[in-house]
Amino acid sequence: ALYPIHKFFILNGELKTNDEFKPAENEGGVYEVIRIVDGKPLFLEEHLARFSRSAEIAGREIRYSGTDVSNYLQDLIRENKVYNGNVLVSCKVNLKAFFIAHSYPTKEQYRSGVECGLLHAERENPNAKVFQTTVRGRANQMIAEKGYYEVLLVDHNGNITEGSRSNAFFIKGSQLITPPSEKVLLGVTRQKVIHCARDLGIDVKEEEISLTRLPGFNAVFITGTSPNILPVSKIGITDFDVQNTLLRKLMKQFDLCIE
Ligand code: PDD
Repeated sequence: ALYPIHKFFILNGELKTNDEFKPAENEGGVYEVIRIVDGKPLFLEEHLARFSRSAEIAGREIRYSGTDVSNYLQDLIRENKVYNGNVLVSCKVNLKAFFIAHSYPTKEQYRSGVECGLLHAERENPNAKVFQTTVRGRANQMIAEKGYYEVLLVDHNGNITEGSRSNAFFIKGSQLITPPSEKVLLGVTRQKVIHCARDLGIDVKEEEISLTRLPGFNAVFITGTSPNILPVSKIGITDFDVQNTLLRKLMKQFDLCIE
């Protein structure tokens, strides 16, 4: 459940205590999940830009500026005295910001990769970060039942678009491929990874990834605010090389980017 895990949260710019929180229905609200590292929101500008874009696409008005939201995050960090974690900023009728429960992958998962499932589901307005409880609910249920780390969404044409809360990348030889921008959430991490790859001279392409192509890839990984870059060891019955050189090089480069 989306509930503040620390004492204070922000409601329309005001600091409130946890017991005043009303877990209202979020369906249709726009949101961001921002990672806090040593008291600083990571990639804040990119998140704020996407927050406005989502509101625009979803036809919602956010009556607070990026500077306001940035100040609320500072208040939230200072008052809770919590300097690392994930913060949810959401806007439906009210603007709320609070620390949420998160699970970062373990060292072992970064080393050995994680297994992902496949779920036939499509997000409406892929470019907007909007609560869609049906897709998320089905994904969470499958993740819980099968013990997957993530499920990859498959559209009506049989193409993998993205994870339920992450983006996906596929490696074939020296090529890095990711599904087309218009079909996915433009992940802040995805964008950083594309930059990192280009810095390394790696060729990045956007292409449809039909399920039939899966056995043809050397490696696969997912990206997102919590996992950063996480190797995928298996999708369905197809195994992938989690030690792939290009993948490991990118993971190192990404760590340098966020230092
Ligand atoms: N989800 N695709 C979807 C559908 C997502 O919900 C997310 C993020 C991503 C990755 O975006 P980013 O790199 O900006 O985190 C891709 C957040 C973390 C969530 O809903 O919890």
